Amino acid sequence: MANIQESSRGGFSNKLGFVLAAAGSAVGLGNIWKFPFEVSDGGGGAFVVMYLAFCFMLCFPVMMAEIALGRKTNKNAVGAFAENGHKKWAPIGILAVLSGSLILSFYNVVAGWALGYAWEMFSGNFSVGQHFGEFVGNWHINMATSTAFMFVTIFIVAKGVSGGIEKASKILMPSLLFLILALMTYSLTQEGAMEGVKFYLIPDFSEITFETAYGAMGQAFFSLSLGMGALITYGSYVGKRDNMVSATSMILLADVGIAFIAGLMMFSFIFSQGLQGQGGGAGLIFTVLPGAFESIGPVLGRIIGGFFFVLLSFAALTSTVSLLEVPVSYVVDEFEVRRNRAVWIVGFVIFLFGVPSMLGNGTVDFFTNFVHYHGAEKAVNFMDFIEDLASDTFLPLGGFLVAVYTAYVWRGDKFKEEVEKGNPEFGNSLMGKYTIFALKFLAPLILGSITIVTILSKFFGIHLIG
Ligand code: PHE
Repeated sequence: MANIQESSRGGFSNKLGFVLAAAGSAVGLGNIWKFPFEVSDGGGGAFVVMYLAFCFMLCFPVMMAEIALGRKTNKNAVGAFAENGHKKWAPIGILAVLSGSLILSFYNVVAGWALGYAWEMFSGNFSVGQHFGEFVGNWHINMATSTAFMFVTIFIVAKGVSGGIEKASKILMPSLLFLILALMTYSLTQEGAMEGVKFYLIPDFSEITFETAYGAMGQAFFSLSLGMGALITYGSYVGKRDNMVSATSMILLADVGIAFIAGLMMFSFIFSQGLQGQGGGAGLIFTVLPGAFESIGPVLGRIIGGFFFVLLSFAALTSTVSLLEVPVSYVVDEFEVRRNRAVWIVGFVIFLFGVPSMLGNGTVDFFTNFVHYHGAEKAVNFMDFIEDLASDTFLPLGGFLVAVYTAYVWRGDKFKEEVEKGNPEFGNSLMGKYTIFALKFLAPLILGSITIVTILSKFFGIHLIG
C-alpha cells in the first residue's frame, strides 16, 4: 500500500484513509442542511429523483475522472493538467480553485450557525427555532462562531490532512449516522409524518423543469464535492495499486445514503409540525429541528439536540478542510509558498470574503437584497447569490469541462489505463464502458445544456426554453 506521509502536502495513510477523507469531504452541510431545503424548494419527490439520477449517472463518471487525474499526476487541481501534458487546460483548475474558495466563504458562515445552535440546544433554548431570523441577524455571534470555525479549519489544514482528523472522523462520522438514523426512526412515528414521506418520495413530474433540474444537478455536485478539484487533490493521495472504482462507489453511496436519510427525517418533522409550504430556504433545518428536539423532552432533547449540532459541525469541518486544501495545495505547489504561510493567508482572505454573506441576513441592506434575478419576485441575498454562482453553476461547469477534457484531450483509453491500475477488469466491464460513454456524450450534453440554458435565463433574462 502506498504510503504518502511525507512532504509539505500532507497525505493519507492508505486507501481507507482516502475513502474516509473523501467521504468526510462529501458528507457535510450539503447533506443535512442544503439537501432538505433544496428538495423543499424544488418540489419534493421529483427533485429527489433527478438528484439521484445525476449522482449515479453523471457524477459517478466525473468523480472517477477527477480521482484518476489526481492519482495519475500527483498534483493539485491546476498543476494536474500541466503535469498530464495539457497546460492549456489548466484554467479548469483555476475555475476549481475559485469555486472552492467561494463555497468555503459562505459554508464557513453556515458552519458557524451550526456551532451556535449546538450551544443553544445544550442551554435548552429551543425557541431559537422560531427566531432564526434574529439569530442570523446577530452578526456579533455569527462573527464569533465563524471565526472560531475558520480558525480550526486553518489549524487542521496547516498540520496536514492525515493525523487527528482522520482518527476523529472514524468515530464521529459513524456517530452522526447513528444519530440521524435514530432521529429518523423517531420522526417517522410522529403524527402527520407520512404526509411528509409522500411529499419526499412520490414524484410529481410536473415539477421537472430546467430550473429544478439545474438545482438538482448543482446539489449533486455540491454534495459529492465534485467539480472543484477536491477529488483531484485528494486523488493524488491514492496509491497506484488501490482499486479506485470500489473507493469511488463507497464514497458515492455513503454520501447519497446520508442525504437520503436526512431528507426522510426532515420531511417527517416538517409535516408533523405543520411547517410545510413555508418556503424553508437556508433556514429550514434551523427552524424545524429545535421543535423536534423539544418534543423529545426537556433534558433528553437538550442532549440529543446539542450533540446533533456538534456532530453536524464536525461533518462540516471535514468538508471545510477539503475546501481549503484545494486553494492551499495550489498555492503551495505552484508558487512555492511554505504550507503554513499559504494556509493562513488563503484562509484569512476567504474568511474576509465570507463577511458579506454573514451581513446579508438582515444586518446590512445592500448584502441582504443583493441581486434581483430576471423574472424573480424577490431579491436574493449575498450568500444565496454566491451559492447559485459557485455551487449550482461553477461546479457543474467544472464537471462538464473535466468530462470533455478526460474524454477528448486526455482520451478515454488513457483514462481507462489509469483506472485499471488496481482494477484490471475495468475496461471490459459494463461499468467501464458506461463510464467512458458518459464522459464522452452524456455528461457534456446534459451538463452543458442545463448549465447554459439556466445561466442565460437566470442571470441574463434570455429564455431559450419556455
Ligand atoms: N460536499 C460538501 C457537503 O456536502 C461540501 C463541499 C463542496 C465540499 C465542494 C468540498 C467541495 O457539505
